[in-house]
Amino acid sequence: MTEGNISELPWWKKTTVYQIYPRSFLDSSGDGIGDLNGILSKLDYLKDLGIETIWISPFFVSPTWKPYQQHDCGYDITDYRNVNPEYGSHETADLLIKEIHDRDMKIVLDMVLNHTSIEHEWFKESRSSRANPKRDWYIWRDGKKPGGKKPPNNWRAMIMGSPWHYDRRTNQWYYAAFLKFQPDLNYRNPEVQQEILDTLRFWLKKGVDGFRLDIINALFEDAEFRDAPFTPKLFSGDLDVLFKSSRMNLNHPDTIEFCKKLRTTIDEFDDPSRFMVGEIIASLPTIKRFLGEDADGLNLAFLFKSLDVPLNAQKVRRLIESYEEHLPDPFLPTWVFGNHDRFRRISKLNGSVEKAKLNAALQLTARGVPFIYYGEEIGMEQADVNVTESLDPLARHFRRIPSFVHSLLEKHKQSIIRDGCRTPMQWNDTENAGFSEAGVKTWLPVSPSYKKRNVLAQEKDPDSLLHCYRRFLRIRRETPALHSGNLRIIPPNEVPKDILSYVRSLNDEGREQQLHVLLNFSSETVDFISPLKNPELLTSTTIRSNPLHENGEIVLTPWEGIVLKGESEYILLK
Ligand code: GLC
Repeated sequence: MTEGNISELPWWKKTTVYQIYPRSFLDSSGDGIGDLNGILSKLDYLKDLGIETIWISPFFVSPTWKPYQQHDCGYDITDYRNVNPEYGSHETADLLIKEIHDRDMKIVLDMVLNHTSIEHEWFKESRSSRANPKRDWYIWRDGKKPGGKKPPNNWRAMIMGSPWHYDRRTNQWYYAAFLKFQPDLNYRNPEVQQEILDTLRFWLKKGVDGFRLDIINALFEDAEFRDAPFTPKLFSGDLDVLFKSSRMNLNHPDTIEFCKKLRTTIDEFDDPSRFMVGEIIASLPTIKRFLGEDADGLNLAFLFKSLDVPLNAQKVRRLIESYEEHLPDPFLPTWVFGNHDRFRRISKLNGSVEKAKLNAALQLTARGVPFIYYGEEIGMEQADVNVTESLDPLARHFRRIPSFVHSLLEKHKQSIIRDGCRTPMQWNDTENAGFSEAGVKTWLPVSPSYKKRNVLAQEKDPDSLLHCYRRFLRIRRETPALHSGNLRIIPPNEVPKDILSYVRSLNDEGREQQLHVLLNFSSETVDFISPLKNPELLTSTTIRSNPLHENGEIVLTPWEGIVLKGESEYILLK
């Protein structure tokens, strides 16, 4: 935002989001599985941390029965309007919405619109016969001749391999952009669109403040099911892989158009306004198309480039520049360093708490909406899970991949075994880390690091990562230039080599507010002269030392990040 009245900005542009994976947050019932009551009991913790919006991964009904028992832990829904009994009931969900609002926070649900579970009644009906009224709710095609025993076309699933699955009952193939047990809904069918839009309305009427939309760029496919064309690209940000374009089944123009319909639907509810954030694994120009030329599509989209950005001043500067270039105001970037699918960020930083603090400083001071994944605030690490022990269907899907590939991925801090980032939240150092009562077998093992890395221990240490998050979240919340201002990068030749500095500024009804962020991306202490008049330290990643010296010097300890308030343009090299 450049000028104007800050209070007119919708709340979601200024917010900070915390993602809860309900299975892993807190088990209140003693069955080893996290639940909604568990979340309820920790709302004060989140409020106190400074979180403004809570996104909860799906807690709707999904199979608790074999063979599809919690196959994708909620990303395989059998009933969009009810709560999985493992997590609670409608009453608990209503209470959760109320209690979150009572604390002046917002709640965002995770909607899996692209596909259902193979166990959904709709799919069971659909697959039962070609004449069933629900047949056309999913995507069915004849196979290729001769005999129809070959997939209908050459498309690729998002997880590689063919997205087509043969069903003997009716001698046709159904389409699944993700895993086989997650058949895609047919969005070319107006009944499906109606049902899904009404489902969103159902939850909006209950008061939820927005939705996270799962693989939203996969909704529509080519209407004529034409083969994917050749592309000269070996790999592209839009998931073109091995010279095959993805444009027939991903990022389809009709999906982009449908996002506007989603927007119109959620905008029916405007007191308060609601928002959607889309999961779109694509290049920045493609992502921008989903937000709409007139910002009339999805409100936000996850940007995943940050997941792997090295903590290096130049690389981070380039990343910010690319976000600023592609998503200028009124568009807004997002800052994501982890989620329930990705290798935990701190483990990419070799477990270093100092680096994790700097990372948090970047996330909470750059322009954009930050998304914090549960446990990130205490430095929870990626757990080592063997493919044979994994509960993750993606890992099982890739189980035949030779172990050296897993090792190679591991070396590059990536994993297709997603259990490693979903281990139980570490609340204290008692058995089961306070997630479940002692003696209970938790659904995934608690990471051994809980003895040292837990909420209770970090509450007691004012220089902990947890307190660092708390400080930065507070000044972000309280400082309009930080949550709503412009961002200008100080040219690299005006600051020492490993320092990244940017100014966040805001003109709110004629009052100019300017903040200076300085991040030291090195393991060395860096000192330099600041021409800032009367600089005032708003916060730092560490409380060990004062970076502002009386002679005008700024001294940043290794991996330190600070926010300053001060008059005048600066910065000069020493
Ligand atoms: C998204 C979710 C992931 C899920 C997949 C299929 O990528 O984040 O957890 O497995 O979609 O729904």
